[in-house]
Amino acid sequence: MKIAVAKEQDPAEPRVAATPDTVKKLKALGAEVAVEPGAGVKSGLPDADYAAVGATVAADALNGADVVLKVKRPEAAELSAYKRGALVLAIMDPYGNDAALKAMADAGIAAFAMELMPRITRAQVMDVLSSQANLAGYRAVIDGAEQFGRVFPMMMTAAGTVPAAKVFIMGVGVAGLQAIATARRLGAIVTATDVRPATKEQVESLGAKFLAVEDEEFKNAQTAGGYAKEMSKDYQAKQAALTAEHIKKQDIVITTALIPGRPAPRLVTAEMVKSMKPGSVLVDLAVERGGNVEGAVAGQVVDTNGVKIVGYTNVAGRVAASASSLYARNLLSFFETMVNKEKALAVNWDDELVKATALTRDGAVIHPNFQPKSA
Ligand code: NAI
Repeated sequence: MKIAVAKEQDPAEPRVAATPDTVKKLKALGAEVAVEPGAGVKSGLPDADYAAVGATVAADALNGADVVLKVKRPEAAELSAYKRGALVLAIMDPYGNDAALKAMADAGIAAFAMELMPRITRAQVMDVLSSQANLAGYRAVIDGAEQFGRVFPMMMTAAGTVPAAKVFIMGVGVAGLQAIATARRLGAIVTATDVRPATKEQVESLGAKFLAVEDEEFKNAQTAGGYAKEMSKDYQAKQAALTAEHIKKQDIVITTALIPGRPAPRLVTAEMVKSMKPGSVLVDLAVERGGNVEGAVAGQVVDTNGVKIVGYTNVAGRVAASASSLYARNLLSFFETMVNKEKALAVNWDDELVKATALTRDGAVIHPNFQPKSA
């Protein structure tokens, strides 16, 4: 069994899918591990560290590999290097990317989308959405602080007192919770909002204040899967009115609101941005999904009348070493379920984790959610 650790081809992707720590464990599973040169460099992991734990570092690492570990989906141009039948584990970004799924099917690989992992107890260690969103939530606060011309904690000094920063977190999933905790640790006064009622207690337990329109619709806003629903126009209007009043008084706003399978909800209008004091900062973690903040631009910091809107992409990648370390462990845990006691590859195609994540196999797109339209 040969496992390859691919170097990411996207120059904007600094993460890597295996670390020397996980390579050791892959080898213990009976695998031979080959790493493409430079794969870990942007995560602070030089080739020598992989070689030191017994991996081969070689330009032809993918050649003949039975399993390929990656961060991002392999693009069509990369696939010629993959063996037919190879298992490929990555963040596949499958929605709206039919051509890319077809290319993987045509290449004969078995592609597994890590982000489709069910959020059940058994799969918690494999949950890449959580491991990466947690880091993105942390980094969003750091990025906000960097752009902010003031300090977060209240400081009483001989030269005078500076007030604590007011931070408002919109969307309290995994990223939002970590953003609250991080902003609190830095000494800010933190408020937060979400449409799921379960978040109220979580916000308060982190020492922040909860703010939301708590009507009947709010009480039913959580799906059985624990996600948010798209709210009615009426609710959105009430939410906007409440937000507008609150945002005026905030120094930093961090937005993380997402609805699975839909564009991100627009929570902050240009008008609200305009109402903020010069020097205030908004960080939009949803910018890659359409954005929560009007005027946010992916990959940029936009300055509108002294208010900055931060739209960095791949925010987990901005703490690449930590992100790679957790991502690699998520992948290892899933891969362990694909190896039998005889240390051979043995994918159980009936396992619910495999069924939920397998996109392509034997030349076809097999995932029910991504069937070609004509089929
Ligand atoms: P997400 O990334 O899909 O969304 C982020 C947040 O935005 C959510 O809290 C959502 O309610 C909120 N949101 C959506 N529309 C909004 C609006 N109009 N205004 C304000 N907020 C809005 O969510 P994430 O981080 O993936 O977590 C979703 C749920 O899954 C949470 O309940 C989380 O605790 C749960 N979860 C369960 C896990 C498990 O059981 N293994 C693992 C990770 C998360």
